[in-house]
Amino acid sequence: MTRTIAPYPLTRLRRTRKMNALRGLVRENALEVHDLIWPVFVQDGENKRTPIVSMPGVNRLSIDLLVKAAREAFELGIPAICLFPYIEQDLKTEDCAGAWDSDNLVNRAIRAIKAEVPELAIMTDVALDPYNINGHDGFVVDGEIVNDMTVEALVKMAVAQAEAGADIIGPSDMMDGRIGTIRRALEVGGHSNVTIMSYSAKYASAFYGPFRDAVGASGALKGDKKTYQMDPANAEEALRLVERDLSEGADMVMVKPGMPYLDICRSVRDRFGVPTFAYQVSGEYAMIAAAAQNGWIDREKTMLESLMCFKRAGCNGILTYFAPEVARILTR
Ligand code: PBG
Repeated sequence: MTRTIAPYPLTRLRRTRKMNALRGLVRENALEVHDLIWPVFVQDGENKRTPIVSMPGVNRLSIDLLVKAAREAFELGIPAICLFPYIEQDLKTEDCAGAWDSDNLVNRAIRAIKAEVPELAIMTDVALDPYNINGHDGFVVDGEIVNDMTVEALVKMAVAQAEAGADIIGPSDMMDGRIGTIRRALEVGGHSNVTIMSYSAKYASAFYGPFRDAVGASGALKGDKKTYQMDPANAEEALRLVERDLSEGADMVMVKPGMPYLDICRSVRDRFGVPTFAYQVSGEYAMIAAAAQNGWIDREKTMLESLMCFKRAGCNGILTYFAPEVARILTR
């Protein structure tokens, strides 16, 4: 029966959802393998793989195993990996000298990976926490996390990483002035093509818990990081930080954590239009992995959805522990 007067809606948004083909035609965003940066944990030793209990499915690897994993990641099309060292408790010091040792775990790992998989981009973390007996990202003097002295150390750390062959320097420490100071040192040191991805809007977050287990910093950390990492209540301040870091020579900026901070990702992308990244951090990974392990959510679907949401929020790419798993799905 056809009616002449249509009480029906003329605009039916369901029409383009009717079949997979149409859904594909109107899809606004895509998640691709080249959007992924894979954070990995490296440890000393040989042929050593240590599961991280609070991150089911994630392992700390010795350099030899890491090189193999890096090759696999590259073959899957993952453009970059990001290295985090596990430093034994008794090797952590107050002066953090290991951080800028040209032969430290991270710098040895960079050289080993570069020798085998030169086309894979290597990102590093610049902060003192893995080396610091206090677990803080900066030097602690009389209970205070001191800024300028820390920046001097971070510069030495970044230059050592660039010398080892790092392609992307990732200052995650949240000290003031570190981007400009590192940028200048890289220029002077002949590393003008080394890029900086600033952890610009890094929040003092409870979602980093499992990461601190992974790098052995949980026991070490005295107090909290609220005097340098951002207050989760703030959004305007994130934009000031991004603007400041760009003016100091950052090539790319990052928001961290990811999923609870998608509004910040969107604002940064809209306001500045620069390469914007988000870090889906350890706690976010752990929530999905644990719920999936209990059979409460579907691991694959939740993982893919969570990552697509970063693209929709305006991110160019995502640091995610799911990277190889996602890459395998996207390329199958
Ligand atoms: C260290 C650093 C942290 C993370 C990345 N770099 C921890 C922290 O700031 O305490 C967290 C990453 C994650 O949770 O996956 N500066």
